[in-house]
Parts: sequence; structure tokens; C-alpha cells
Amino acid sequence: MTTMSKLVALAIAAGVITTLPFAASAQTAAAAKRADPALVETYLKATFGKAPPEWQARIEPDETLRACNLHRNDVPSAEADKIIKRELAKVVFPADGKLIGDWKEGKKIANNGRGGQFSDDEKTVSGGNCYACHQMEKAELSYGTLGPSLTAYGKERKFDPAEVRNAFTKIYNSQAVLACSNMPRFGANKFLSEQQIMDLVAFLFDPESPVNK
Ligand code: HEC
Repeated sequence: MTTMSKLVALAIAAGVITTLPFAASAQTAAAAKRADPALVETYLKATFGKAPPEWQARIEPDETLRACNLHRNDVPSAEADKIIKRELAKVVFPADGKLIGDWKEGKKIANNGRGGQFSDDEKTVSGGNCYACHQMEKAELSYGTLGPSLTAYGKERKFDPAEVRNAFTKIYNSQAVLACSNMPRFGANKFLSEQQIMDLVAFLFDPESPVNK
């Protein structure tokens, strides 16, 4: 396999590319379409060869990701309904019903891209890395645009408690809101804690948060 075809295979396996870069040749595009899923899987597993078992388990797609991969994220509506139902069942809401934490902590979590990397030690607290995909507070100039801008998020929703609940659900498990979402399933995959998710909800919904200024 050439380096380029390896890269294309990896990108397809990760489900991150829906359109090829402008510069890619038609030949590469045709090769990408023909990529054999079994070959991609074998290659992926080989790259995780020395990783501990819990990491190996993470490259096995679960039922939801299998369905999204099969349909290249464009699942038929009956399948989308099944995914949303299954993923919603994984969302655990705080026992006391309080969904809003501390926006100052949420601000730090949104800006923290650490955690989940081979180079991290066990004590590394994971961040949400939300700015990789979203604009949040206006003062932050460095942000990605894969996801929609979340500026004035709470204010625009009139701080409505139903919207607070939706946001908690979205951050806990993005696929419980939109089947085959490109956003990570932070709570369902135990990447962020309940408290961290509450703090992020506060960053979006507290009237004092810079997101709403
Ligand atoms: C890898 C990119 C990515 C990351 C990282 C990410 N998101 Fe998202 N997010 C998306 C996309 C894409 C959407 C649009 C809907 C969808 O595809 O699920 C979205 C939608 C949302 C929505 C709903 C927006 C609406 O239209 O009402 C909220 C709220 C949200 N994200 C919050 C967060 C927070 C908080 C974090 C950090 C913990 C985060 N996101 C991290 C990609 C991302």
C-alpha cells in the first residue's frame, strides 16, 4: 500500500472524510471508493498493535458506529430512529436533577484539548476540546468550524430549561440527538464526567458566562 492510499483508507475507516481534498486526483477518488473494508480493518488493527487491551476495544465500532459506517453516515430514517433511541438510553442525568454547574470551570474544560492520548499519564484530566469544532465566547479567536457557532447559546434560547436539558443530552451523547453526529459522545464514552458536562452546560447557559455576553 502506498502512503497515500493508507491515509485515504484510514480517513475512510475513521469516517471523517466525506469529500476528498480539492487536489486529490480522480484516480485517488476511484481507489477510495473501492477500498475493501476488511483490508482497512486489518490495517487499523495493525497500527494499534502495541496498545493496551482497553485501547484495542475502542477501535471496535459499536452497533451505532457500524450502522453509520455502513451507510456512510447517511442512515435511512428508520435506522436513525433506532440509533437515537439506543443512544438516549445511555444518557444518565444527574440524580438531583440539577444540570447547570460552574461556567468558570466549563470555560477551562471547553478550552482543554488534553486527555485520551498515548503520551498522557493516568492522572491527566480530559478536556472537552470544544473549540476544535465550535466558536463559543467571542473573545476566543482560535476555533474550528466543523460544528455550528455556539455564541450567545443560552441567551438566544431564552435560558429555557428544556434547552438546558437538550444541551446536557447533546454533550453527554451527541448521537442521542442526531444519528451519526460528528461530535464525540463525551459522557456515554466516559471521556468527561457528569460534573464536567454540567460545567460545560453552565458555560453555555449561565447568563454571566462570556458565551452570553
Ligand atoms: C469533532 C467536532 C466536535 C467537537 C469536538 C464538539 N462538537 Fe459540538 N457539535 C459538532 C457538530 C458537527 C454539531 C452539529 C450537529 C451534529 O452534527 O451533531 C455539534 C452540535 C453541538 C451542539 C448543538 C448545537 C445546536 O445547533 O443547537 C452543542 C450544544 C454542542 N455541539 C456542544 C459542544 C460542546 C460543549 C463540546 C465540547 C465538550 C463540543 N460540542 C465538541 C461537532 C463537535
